[in-house]
Amino acid sequence: MNITVLTFDTIDSTNTEALKQARQGADEGLCIVAREQTAGRGRHGRSWVSEKDSGLYFSIVLRPKLDTRSLPLITLMAGMAVHDTLQELGLKPDIKWVNDILVDEKKISGILAETTETANGLAVVVGIGINLKSSNFPAELADSATSIAEKLTTANFSADQLAENLTKYLSYFYDILKAEGGPEQIIDEWRTRSRYFVGKPVRVVLENETVFGMTDGLESNGALRLRKNDGSIIVIQAGDVERLRATEAGAN
Ligand code: BTN
Repeated sequence: MNITVLTFDTIDSTNTEALKQARQGADEGLCIVAREQTAGRGRHGRSWVSEKDSGLYFSIVLRPKLDTRSLPLITLMAGMAVHDTLQELGLKPDIKWVNDILVDEKKISGILAETTETANGLAVVVGIGINLKSSNFPAELADSATSIAEKLTTANFSADQLAENLTKYLSYFYDILKAEGGPEQIIDEWRTRSRYFVGKPVRVVLENETVFGMTDGLESNGALRLRKNDGSIIVIQAGDVERLRATEAGAN
């Protein structure tokens, strides 16, 4: 993939800009990076705190020639790219389905994949936020979020270097996904990077209900299998997974 990076000091949202550029015909590999976002977006309509120089705010345009069924695997492959980028820095990240990268159970990075129809076919924008420092976290995030600076006090890294490493791993995993047998390999690689893959007691918040159970691997399209306490399996295509503490597991 040919990587081109466009950098902004301030922008509303790198995803919004990347979607716009995709509709205007941008090639696959265009990356938008900003030092600050004024309207950073998270999943489910939430906002993404994006103070100046406190995070990496990054979006890439992809034009995948994949089966529609495999499109959700793009989020998984991006999660692995973030995982390996952080691991290369010396961190020990975990991936919580579907798109949260955690260190010591606290969120350090999130991914928002969005699609748009363009004259050249479907484009997918993968937006990635990585917390660089915690000093500007709002109070409500203090317990659930962390940052590179908090975990690696002696780390010597720059946002530019991080973005470069991220594009290296994105290209690597995207090539795997597109290759013959790619979807199976992505699931297999994801399994080795996520302690949530199997046997993790979780609560999953769906649109209209909350379900409890034990994770039981992924379907071939990346959907999460959940074994409920009555032994039945349900398949979750979209929802927020939350870890259950030992005292809560088995409560439902
Ligand atoms: C989430 O965990 O809810 C997803 C967060 C994604 C945030 C990134 S920051 C760069 C890109 N631009 C946005 O507006 N959102 C994504």
